Amino acid sequence: MEITKKPLFNELGDTEISKKRIVNGNTTNLNDFNNMKYTWVSDWYRQAMNNFWIPEEINLSQDLKDYKKLSKNEKTAYDKILSFLIFLDSIQTANLGNINSYVTASEVNLCLTIQAFQEALHSQSYSYMLDSICSPEERNEILFQWKDDEILLGRNKFIGDLYNRFLENETMHNFVRAVMANYILEGVYFYSGFMFFYNLERNGKMPGSAQEIRYINRDENTHLWLFKNIILELKTENPEIFTEEFEKELVDMVKTGVENEIAWGHYVIGNNIEGMNKTLIENYIKYIGNLRLRSIGLEILYPEHTENPAPWVDVHADANQVKTDFFEARSTAYAKATALVDDL
Ligand SMILES: [Fe+2]
Ligand SMILES: [Fe+2]
Repeated sequence: MEITKKPLFNELGDTEISKKRIVNGNTTNLNDFNNMKYTWVSDWYRQAMNNFWIPEEINLSQDLKDYKKLSKNEKTAYDKILSFLIFLDSIQTANLGNINSYVTASEVNLCLTIQAFQEALHSQSYSYMLDSICSPEERNEILFQWKDDEILLGRNKFIGDLYNRFLENETMHNFVRAVMANYILEGVYFYSGFMFFYNLERNGKMPGSAQEIRYINRDENTHLWLFKNIILELKTENPEIFTEEFEKELVDMVKTGVENEIAWGHYVIGNNIEGMNKTLIENYIKYIGNLRLRSIGLEILYPEHTENPAPWVDVHADANQVKTDFFEARSTAYAKATALVDDL
């Protein structure tokens, strides 16, 4: 089935809200916050805007001291996980525009634009972390581990290939596959990494890094919410695509994502880090996989893993529950009037 790139200037586009479609609609690209077809966008938009944060406002001076004292295993895991996350957020920043150029619902275009901004912010937060705690040589070494570490490269290829497949062959099925790959990246791939950072914090190490991750995690939750809604709307509007066979393929994608994430967690964390072990990682990622499937109306894969085996992760992930002595939780007081030098 065909998918058409959205038009840009299109004075003959539909003005009736009811005619809006996630893809293959006839959009004018007019942004109108007062008349939305997809009303969940209002809540999403407000939440995403309220989540605004600035990476450099988090103090990493304790992390600079702690990094030097990490065990060899902790340091290796820290570096590899960071390298992985940097790659994920970078490819997200680059790919969201591709997805967005096929989305014909203007309010959803807005959400994807905000998401792309946040992914860029995440990339910048990793640069700030590397700049604060590593030497320039270490920094570059960590940045490109995703190219040289075979396991790291392999798992990035799974998502990267699905993104490329849509670019090379723009069909409706490949679009849904790319959207699903995005959902897996956001909802499964980040999670053993997040868990690792919260575990370090639990052990009294790298509090600033954990705080950066907590804000990234909070943004990722809204991205998941967005993609969940996009998938559900696509399904409502294009039921002919979502056959039993295609849905099975989507479930298999989640299965591959879960298996990759577990293999990665075993490789990079394994049984060598205090507070984590292989069984915990496997149980947690299967639990997460179930959550992702259930929220888009697909059958869960691991019925024996419906309870969170690591409730402490949720506590550490909650920006409202964790108070650090150096970071004052603020919500919207970020508007800073910096004097602009007017040289026009
Ligand atoms: Fe991100
Ligand atoms: Fe994201």
